[in-house]
Amino acid sequence: MTEFIKRRQIFANSMLDNSMAIFPANKELMRSNDTEFRFRQNSDFYYLTGFNEPDACLLLIKKDGLVKSVLFNRKKDKTAEIWHGYRLGQEAALAELAIDQAFPIDDLEIKLSEFFTNVEHLYYPVLSGASLDHCLQSVLNKLRSKTRSGLIDTNQFLNWQPQIHEMRLFKSSYEQELMRKAGEISALGHVRAMQQCQPGMWEYQLQLEVEYEFARQGTRDVAYNSIVASGNNACILHYTENDKQLQDGDLVLIDAGAEYQGYAGDITRTFPVNGRFSPQQAALYELVLDCQLFAIAQVKPNISMLAINALVVRKMSEGLFNLSIVKGDLESFIKEEKYKVFYMHGLGHFIGLDVHDVGNSGSVAEPRALEAGMVVTIEPGLYISHDADVDECWKGIGIRIEDDLLVTENGNEILTAAVPKSIQEIEALMQHG
Ligand code: GLY
Ligand code: MN
Ligand code: MN
Repeated sequence: MTEFIKRRQIFANSMLDNSMAIFPANKELMRSNDTEFRFRQNSDFYYLTGFNEPDACLLLIKKDGLVKSVLFNRKKDKTAEIWHGYRLGQEAALAELAIDQAFPIDDLEIKLSEFFTNVEHLYYPVLSGASLDHCLQSVLNKLRSKTRSGLIDTNQFLNWQPQIHEMRLFKSSYEQELMRKAGEISALGHVRAMQQCQPGMWEYQLQLEVEYEFARQGTRDVAYNSIVASGNNACILHYTENDKQLQDGDLVLIDAGAEYQGYAGDITRTFPVNGRFSPQQAALYELVLDCQLFAIAQVKPNISMLAINALVVRKMSEGLFNLSIVKGDLESFIKEEKYKVFYMHGLGHFIGLDVHDVGNSGSVAEPRALEAGMVVTIEPGLYISHDADVDECWKGIGIRIEDDLLVTENGNEILTAAVPKSIQEIEALMQHG
């Protein structure tokens, strides 16, 4: 709990005096008619509260230098709890979440109007489509109609997102522990997939082998929809249909990660459905693996992901030329970005409470350098689809290899190292099942 108090305190220290910050939770989303998708909390709200119920909202109010935390959440309700499950309620929230005041979410509009009359500045997640936009609009309209009944300038909001997202970019040691666990569990899921894979299985069956292992290891959630893409499907970057049958002789690419206490793992491995790489598959695989290992060795403070990727692009392009998959002039292949036919995505991304995590990564002109405490993925790939203009023998092969890395003072720690990626290790694991 001290972790959450500390985060609220750090943000509150930066708030202007006589101000209020609003942090909305997520609402449940309908899946069909009256049944919902499994609930996932808003990451910013969770970061500040650790509270995992829908229909809630946190206020931080700073007045004369003092900060008060106020939670709005669902009321205890015997009938609703019999039908739908436990609710924390207001009284228990005070101690459990270390909050100063708690009110039922049904009173939000009335209470917000009261709080508004005492503050001059409002922090809000501007343009984020927050679940409270309608409620806030209604409160502000009422305030505007009562001329000057409030102090706040209702046309001027401050956005808390840049600061909270900057905080989220640097993982505390508590968060690093959770991310290690997310990485370990994710890795075990991939190991199981390699052990269980057989020609004739369906992609969704292999998906559930991965996700079953996540559950066996202590988490039921995936950090994103798992990708299990065999053969040419691997050339579709965000393929999630997972509904084809695994063919003997094809590769299968699995991009899947467990979510552990809100934190994402994100691993990709590519391996042969029948347990043995063909010579072409092996040649391309070695190239991607060389690039990935090379990129990992560069990850340390003071270098940007874009700078590392520029080196990877060169290495990848040289490899394609060495294999005679492409011919011509290497320099123009790189300069004119022709490699993007085969490697069309970035090298990786920040990862944390969101798989594609928040945080300012700078611009192409001024890319942001890595710093200790950041966590990134490194995930180069090569995709040679059926319609590529190359020799037939290379077609229908998509390969990506992805790991999650904590940037440390002197280098990095690989959080997802427990799943093999060399050809020898993968083949050995698949033979022994
Ligand atoms: N799983 C999505 C990604 O690797 O970015
Ligand atoms: Mn991934
Ligand atoms: Mn990724």
